[in-house]
Amino acid sequence: MAYTRTLLCFIFVAISMASISEARKRNTTNIQFYMHDTPGGPNPSAVRVAGQATNATDMGMFGFGSIYVMDNALTTTPDLNSTLIGRAQGLYAMSSSQENDISLLMTLTYNFVSGIYNGSSLSIVGRNPVMNEVREMPVVGGTGIFRLARGFALAKTYSMNQADAIIGYNVTIIHYY
Ligand SMILES: *[C@@H]1O[C@H](CO)[C@@H](O)[C@H](O)[C@H]1NC(C)=O
Ligand SMILES: *[C@@H]1O[C@H](CO)[C@@H](O)[C@H](O)[C@H]1NC(C)=O
Ligand SMILES: *[C@@H]1O[C@H](CO)[C@@H](O)[C@H](O)[C@H]1NC(C)=O
Ligand SMILES: *[C@@H]1O[C@H](CO)[C@@H](O)[C@H](O)[C@H]1NC(C)=O
Ligand SMILES: *[C@@H]1O[C@H](CO)[C@@H](O)[C@H](O)[C@H]1NC(C)=O
Repeated sequence: MAYTRTLLCFIFVAISMASISEARKRNTTNIQFYMHDTPGGPNPSAVRVAGQATNATDMGMFGFGSIYVMDNALTTTPDLNSTLIGRAQGLYAMSSSQENDISLLMTLTYNFVSGIYNGSSLSIVGRNPVMNEVREMPVVGGTGIFRLARGFALAKTYSMNQADAIIGYNVTIIHYY
């Protein structure tokens, strides 16, 4: 009985998955953009909401346990005034207690506002060892054109001015639209 139920359940899931991929087209997409993370200055795009009282203008911002909320612009070139393609909204937490390791837990959404991606979003959850030249984070899902997205994001620091950083992102995803 239990076996029959399991089998029926499996068949149902298999049919559902098949109809999703039949009704929608699978695509592999690569998107590149620059994220402007500006915790310093009079109009910060990232604010510390919990954790130790540290001085964000020196590297004290990397204190273990600090949590930031961000709403960072995503642009086509490193120039903040270039075309805005979306915003990275979410949280990052300083998640390493080790002295010579700075790593962040990223829980982010990329909300796109331009072209065919307008109104679609991607979700990222992963570890970001910021001192590494290239950091890889998993793309765990998406909405709109990015429904059922799976993929990875490669992040590389383009420039750093005190705590303010411009990060180049190269995102590869498989999705169904
Ligand atoms: C499908 O992928 C190609 C190549 O990356 C891209 O040019 C195109 O815009 C994508 N189409 C959709 C609907 O995502
Ligand atoms: C923060 O650190 C910077 C650089 O070390 C220093 O110039 C500034 O006075 C510090 N600010 C506070 C509030 O401690
Ligand atoms: C962006 O444009 C504003 C207003 O036009 C200007 O004040 C600012 O310096 C520009 N920023 C950059 C990085 O070019
Ligand atoms: C994106 O979509 C919104 C809502 O549909 C629309 O108001 C806006 O003009 C669109 N932006 C672009 C750049 O297409
Ligand atoms: C972006 O990532 C893809 C897949 O890893 C790679 O083929 C491509 O060369 C990368 N582009 C840049 C500019 O780093």
